Amino acid sequence: MSSQQSKSSANRDSFASSLGILLAMTGSAVGLGNLWRFPYLVGENGGAAFIIVYLVCVVFICMPIMACEFIIGRRSQANAFGAYKKLGGNKGWKVAGLLSVLAAAFILSFYSVVGGWSIRYMLMSFGLRFTSGGGIQPESTFNTFVTGTWPPILYTLAFLLCTGVIIVAGVKNGIEKFTKTLMPVLFVLMVILAVRSMTLPGAGEGVRYLFKPDFSKFTASSAIAALGQAFFSLSLGCGTILTYASYVPRSENILSCGAKTTFLDTLFALIAGCAIMPAVFAYGISPGQGPGLVFITLPAIFAELPAGGIAAILFFVSLFLAALTSAISLLEVVIAFLIEECKMRRAAAVAVSMSVFVVLAVLCSLSQGPLSHVKLFTLNVFDLFDYVSSNVLMTFGALLAVLFVGHKLSRADILDEISSGGLHPIPAGLFKTFYFIIRWAAPVVIIGILVAGLLG
Ligand code: TRP
Repeated sequence: MSSQQSKSSANRDSFASSLGILLAMTGSAVGLGNLWRFPYLVGENGGAAFIIVYLVCVVFICMPIMACEFIIGRRSQANAFGAYKKLGGNKGWKVAGLLSVLAAAFILSFYSVVGGWSIRYMLMSFGLRFTSGGGIQPESTFNTFVTGTWPPILYTLAFLLCTGVIIVAGVKNGIEKFTKTLMPVLFVLMVILAVRSMTLPGAGEGVRYLFKPDFSKFTASSAIAALGQAFFSLSLGCGTILTYASYVPRSENILSCGAKTTFLDTLFALIAGCAIMPAVFAYGISPGQGPGLVFITLPAIFAELPAGGIAAILFFVSLFLAALTSAISLLEVVIAFLIEECKMRRAAAVAVSMSVFVVLAVLCSLSQGPLSHVKLFTLNVFDLFDYVSSNVLMTFGALLAVLFVGHKLSRADILDEISSGGLHPIPAGLFKTFYFIIRWAAPVVIIGILVAGLLG
């Protein structure tokens, strides 16, 4: 690895172990998307039917896109912008890198707000507020909190601060150490919750809902939602996989790392579904509650559940950890860009980017209440950032990544990178399929979601 490193920028930080890489990647992918968005989308789009289409999207479209980001990142050993500059010959491809950095910045701005909510709910759970005597009215407690001025801002800032503190410590000592410790904890917490939920009286119906397909409730827009969710959940198109991959040593098997990351992300989403849906059914609540599922429906359930106070602690700690390990990967995209392109020191890059994120995140937070009337195209700031990043920037970012690998890099270079220079050979048939997907199938599908996203 040392000879490889001397080839690229001399003292670039990098990951130290294969497990560290896998867990950092999984930490990025597993986030609010798994614990909050996936279960409510399943609830709204016909349960197992949605899950099946989601799995198809993950395997045939998202995994190849992820492999492209791995290839660009590891081959260039540079930040998202620098990667396209280095491999694309300083041409217009740099725009792709810039889009990724922008997407990461927009996502982090609204993601931190929800991250802040998760801190507040975690602290409330420690205070046993989600027990029958806790005295909360789930809906009004949530609405009063998020539409307020200072409390949500302070929690958002606390979340950003946690993110910054980890990132200042660097890749090996910050990101890797942190995610390697916390992802297993997250896994255990989620499994305990799922077991508790699935053993409730009346939970069987929820389990059936998750695993027995009913295509009658599945529409064309459900299919688009499934693909969009697979994109979001795997953190594609915003330079995070690319940036993390740039810290991966040449000896590492990137194809298997990508496959394992995808598997673990999907597993976490399914476990979250098993933790939430059976409880929702056991308490006779409709599964299609939308975004309020986690912050309104679940607290109502915790208050009724035997030992619900403990379940609430496990759940909100999980939500916070999942959000945090994703947020650090978003911030690292911006930090790597500032360090390498603007020649800043890491600490300075964190300070500069934090001051920008504080402003953007505060605007997102205020747009839930005091600034809710400030709208562009009927969207408040929070929804606008979400829309622009999820429906435009990420999708473009992913499209450009597959086009770049499929049509700009040579077949030989792709094969060389994906097989680590022959160290981890890949079956010819698999490579052929992969090459076809990234050249033709994936671009067509991504253009389809772009159009659907812009029209819808
Ligand atoms: N994958 C994250 C989740 O499931 C959300 C996300 C989207 C993300 N794009 C990202 C996280 C980029 C980190 C980096 O919640």
